[in-house]
Amino acid sequence: MPITNITEELQIQSGQGAYPARFHESVAAVVAQLAGSAKAAVIVDANVDALYASSLAPLKSAFPYRTVPALETEKTLAGVERTLQFLQDHKANKETRLIAIGGGIIQDIATFSSHLYYRCIPFVFVPTTLLSMADSCIGAKCGINFGQFKNQLGVFQSPESVEICEAFLGTLSDTDIASGYGEIVKLALTGSAELYSRVERAVTLGGFRNPELTDLIAASLAVKKEVIEADEYERDLRRILNYGHTFGHALEAITGHAVPHGIAVAWGMDLANFISCRRGKLARAEFERMHRFLARYFAMPMDRPVTAAALIEASRRDKKNVRGKLTMALLERPGRLVIDYVDYDSALEASVTEFLELNHAFFGN
Ligand SMILES: NC(=O)c1ccc[n+]([C@@H]2O[C@H](COP(=O)([O-])OP(=O)(O)OC[C@H]3O[C@@H](n4cnc5c(N)ncnc54)[C@H](O)[C@@H]3O)[C@@H](O)[C@H]2O)c1
Ligand SMILES: [Zn+2]
Repeated sequence: MPITNITEELQIQSGQGAYPARFHESVAAVVAQLAGSAKAAVIVDANVDALYASSLAPLKSAFPYRTVPALETEKTLAGVERTLQFLQDHKANKETRLIAIGGGIIQDIATFSSHLYYRCIPFVFVPTTLLSMADSCIGAKCGINFGQFKNQLGVFQSPESVEICEAFLGTLSDTDIASGYGEIVKLALTGSAELYSRVERAVTLGGFRNPELTDLIAASLAVKKEVIEADEYERDLRRILNYGHTFGHALEAITGHAVPHGIAVAWGMDLANFISCRRGKLARAEFERMHRFLARYFAMPMDRPVTAAALIEASRRDKKNVRGKLTMALLERPGRLVIDYVDYDSALEASVTEFLELNHAFFGN
């Protein structure tokens, strides 16, 4: 896929209507634009509210305003009900624009709530984490947790617009920055060898908070835009965006979500690449180059060892599996992903075991 030119604004085509993702210089500029809404209700990540209280004050004084804890326990039917109750308490109607400010958790709560309230009210998303700026903010998907299952309930609901301001990242933790980069690397490898090399170079020269970050966010969104526009409802092509997620989700599950999503995805890509290499799809030298980068920048101390048996068992619960086989997006080379169906057999177990033996250092166990 070619690198699409970076623009001031990306227009995302969707069956529910096109919507823009715009880039802003300052938090004040985003707030000034949104404060001009005719009728709105605002939900804000509680940590963001505390950190940006004075910048967000114009929204707080103009509209009903609710802070929401960014917790997985809030991304549930009960949490959605609290947001719906807030809308009802403030007599929100179909003209009310729900403004959601926060990361992926707030996005999922807002998407689900706006879809349900009066069968859909417009919502605007202001992403404040790197993961939500570079990846989840477009694509219209959401997932909320139900019982023991993460992201089991969901809808597709496009936002009215996405307003991106990188200035929010100044207060984001280094771990959450790394998590966002997991998805940036995934989208770079989905896009092209050039884009992957560009990400690798920018990070190697300048660390995660490098001067190219805005461009990398825009380039990631441009790759995702091409995929979701071709397959909005994940019938076929969009499944490649699950690259790194099969074993990434398994790792998240068996560590009780101690590993942030994007970091688990980075690790999951490394394992997927290893399996791809073992299956003769990816050249060993390519695997090793990406492995050096992933292991260096996404290493994370973990308190318990991970076993192949536990990972494979957790991967069996992946909702993407068909006919008892593991559905994996495998890399053939940077810029070329294919969907493959992998048997649960001794070859898979041997690959995962070997990968774990080679990679003690990756997660410090
Ligand atoms: N809908 C989708 O397409 C999609 C895609 C990927 C992930 N997700 C979901 O998103 C969630 C993860 O989202 P996330 O990684 O964006 O983070 P998050 O929403 O879980 O937030 C992470 C932490 O960062 C804090 N935070 C947010 N913005 C901040 C800022 N600017 N400064 C300081 N702290 C800030 C939050 O309060 C929280 O403590 C998961 O629930 C995941 O399932 C959804
Ligand atoms: Zn993801």
